[in-house]
Amino acid sequence: MSGVPRRATAADIDAVLALEQSCFSDDPWTRNMLQEELGRAGGVFVALGDEGRPVAFAIGWSVLDELHVLQVAVDPAQRRGGLGRRIMEALEAGAGSAETAWLEVRRDNAAAIGMYEALGYRAVGCRQRYYTDGCDALLLRKTLKG
Ligand SMILES: CC(C)(COP(=O)(O)OP(=O)(O)OC[C@H]1O[C@@H](n2cnc3c(N)ncnc32)[C@H](O)[C@@H]1OP(=O)(O)O)[C@@H](O)C(=O)NCCC(=O)NCCS
Repeated sequence: MSGVPRRATAADIDAVLALEQSCFSDDPWTRNMLQEELGRAGGVFVALGDEGRPVAFAIGWSVLDELHVLQVAVDPAQRRGGLGRRIMEALEAGAGSAETAWLEVRRDNAAAIGMYEALGYRAVGCRQRYYTDGCDALLLRKTLKG
């Protein structure tokens, strides 16, 4: 699939909400949460695909010299084609002066862990029973600059 990652817009929210619900069925973000990210100071909300029909998105917060990666998802029908890598690289590029990126990922999410490791993220800690179902979170970090 061609296309350059871009800033998400209000026209993308319906499709991003649908991706949320299919990719994070146990705890999806709500419409209000997504809309809040469009206008957040320091927020980075990127999408890939035509406006109104994104096939991938990522959300992060750029706080001082850190990027906090909050959400990333690719349409299930379009995975393993490099879109996850591209949208993550756009998120990092949109984080301005951030020197370090941080995120939490479920220990049992092999696809996401594989992608983050391929992008240079490394596990630096574990938050035990972090998720409501008791699954641990791995804390991953990547040096972006320096
Ligand atoms: C994680 C996710 C975004 C990856 O998207 P994707 O478009 O399939 O990823 P890419 O095609 O860019 O893959 C990049 C690399 O990640 C790794 N990877 C991706 N999927 C993988 C899988 N199922 N198993 C192992 N490694 C995987 C590979 O190293 C891959 O490189 P390769 O294809 O050259 O081998 C996607 O699986 C997804 O949306 N999952 C549900 C939402 C989610 O879990 N988000 C993360 C929450 S922390």
